[in-house]
Amino acid sequence: MLPMSTTHRIVFGNCRSMKEIPDESIQLMVTSPPYYNAPFDYPNMFKDYDEFLGLIRDFSQELYRVMAPGRIGCIVADDMLVKGERYPVIADVTRLMLDSGFRYRDRIVWVKPKGYVRISRRSGVVMQHPYPMYFYPDNIQESILIFQKGRFDYSYLQKLTSTVLEESKIPLLDYNTEGWYMTVWNITNVLPLGKRLEKGIAAFPEEIPRRLIRLFSYAGETVLDPFLGSGTTSKVAMDLGRSSWGYEIDPGLRQRIETKLGVDQGASPENVEFQTREDERT
Ligand SMILES: C[S@@+](CC[C@H](N)C(=O)[O-])C[C@H]1O[C@@H](n2cnc3c(N)ncnc32)[C@H](O)[C@@H]1O
Repeated sequence: MLPMSTTHRIVFGNCRSMKEIPDESIQLMVTSPPYYNAPFDYPNMFKDYDEFLGLIRDFSQELYRVMAPGRIGCIVADDMLVKGERYPVIADVTRLMLDSGFRYRDRIVWVKPKGYVRISRRSGVVMQHPYPMYFYPDNIQESILIFQKGRFDYSYLQKLTSTVLEESKIPLLDYNTEGWYMTVWNITNVLPLGKRLEKGIAAFPEEIPRRLIRLFSYAGETVLDPFLGSGTTSKVAMDLGRSSWGYEIDPGLRQRIETKLGVDQGASPENVEFQTREDERT
């Protein structure tokens, strides 16, 4: 049990503005923006690709304002195949983050299990037509893009108590045995089966924020997810003794976020706060 008390604020509103958050007060961001017009989860969410990029541009500029100097922002994303056209989301998001002032630090490739049940099996075309030009590979990866606001001042560690340092220690056994140290992470995705909290949300598995929070934040610091969805980032932040901010445009997700954070089971209701803002949708 971590001794530090943490606070988790969830704002139902558009993260183009995160006016509730003071400047330079966030030590880590972990998020996955809506997948551009993803056929399963977000068909026709955006009028066109430029509208999607406009959201990423506005969000990244606002993110730069709220991030503390030297700190990290992680974006889980993938290029999108929509109606036979592939959109270069990874390249464009990277460019927009650079334009907002961030440094591009790393790209982790998140590999899902080979038997991932949801991918459209494009590779079958070659089985039917075993000739050149019929090759369409099955996609079992996404990217975790890692950006940084300037450079981290490592003298910061001298200001931390030995308790904070102890609680923030990276678990080296997991780091080594699970391969956190590589640019490829093998992590099982949230399986789209049965009745589940994340239905229709395109949630990422807890293991992604868990690794990123441990690798890039100290106990007691504050983690932000501007596209909160079912609340996975806030839930893991809570588990790891970090505070959090989350933005979610769909107030209909409140019940699911409450369940994920254990609010309705009375686990920690005193430090979870919800606010609703009147906002336009994307
Ligand atoms: C890919 S999901 C995030 C899933 C989340 N990582 C999880 O584990 O549940 C993206 C979320 O962003 C929300 N969203 C879309 N546009 C938004 C905006 N402008 N501001 C805030 N949230 C937005 C969507 O409603 C959706 O829940």
